[in-house]
Amino acid sequence: MRTITVAVSCLAFAGEAAQEDTPWKTLAKLLAGQTPSDAFSVPGARMTSRTNRWNPLSMMARKPIVGGNWKCNPAKPGDLEGLVANINACDTSKCDVYVCPSNLHLGMVYEKFNDGILVAPQNCNFAGCGAYTGEMSVDQMKEMGIKACMIGHSERRMEFGLPTPYESNALLATKLKYILDAGLMCILAIGEPLPVREKGLEAVVDYCKGQLCDVLPTLKALEDKSRVVIAYEPVWSIGTGVTASPEQAQETQANIRSFIKDKCGADIAAKVRIQYGGSASPDNIEGLSKNPDIDGFLVGGASLKPTFVGMIEHLSK
Ligand code: PGA
Repeated sequence: MRTITVAVSCLAFAGEAAQEDTPWKTLAKLLAGQTPSDAFSVPGARMTSRTNRWNPLSMMARKPIVGGNWKCNPAKPGDLEGLVANINACDTSKCDVYVCPSNLHLGMVYEKFNDGILVAPQNCNFAGCGAYTGEMSVDQMKEMGIKACMIGHSERRMEFGLPTPYESNALLATKLKYILDAGLMCILAIGEPLPVREKGLEAVVDYCKGQLCDVLPTLKALEDKSRVVIAYEPVWSIGTGVTASPEQAQETQANIRSFIKDKCGADIAAKVRIQYGGSASPDNIEGLSKNPDIDGFLVGGASLKPTFVGMIEHLSK
């Protein structure tokens, strides 16, 4: 039932592309097991080695993207050199790479990465320079030549229990606009806590929609959609060693993309990259990365290990 629903919801878009077929003929072809190239004839459409299932919203090639979130690591500044070398060993020609050093260390390392590797602070304030003790402004980042910023991580949305106020979806929407207006890329992390996942897919998707609603008008107005990256990170899988199954991640991310399509249009939905995050490592990305709506990974613990480079190599195939 779920498969049919997704196929039908994509037909408006598929129908635009399949000039000679009605949507129903196209659906019949798909259900009859024809390959996408038989069913559609769309310039630029291609199946990549990572895309083993056809999804019209996935027909636009999106460059994979992997982020290394060092969180509040390493403890010793002396360990930074090895971590930077680890990231610099990544070939970014076929996979975008960004790294999120801790706030304290960012200023020490941001000029040490190879061209093509983006440095993305783990947070920013919402309003520029001034009397904001303990904060970082996008204006400062821009002046330093920093080209990306991550916001909305669950550990900043208070999922790890600090008695500080939540970062609300409205605040994050303000931050996202501020980042984009300054010309930087924004990685926006979203994802549901365990009690929501336990209620099932519909509750999960509703939760993620709630986290996205406020940012969609900004996304819609943005010229270069690749400057927004959504990192879907189920909170229950972050740092727990419990990765979402490829099916769970794909169906959630397909629904997120479908929501963007409903609100912003098929073209925008097809261009926005959606990463998966949560205990992702070289050992478990094979199944996840085959899915058409998983455009890369946001990686915490595994980004601190030399094997991290293997994740970029895998997505570059
Ligand atoms: P993890 O963290 O890979 O250690 O689960 C991911 C993240 O929090 O971004």
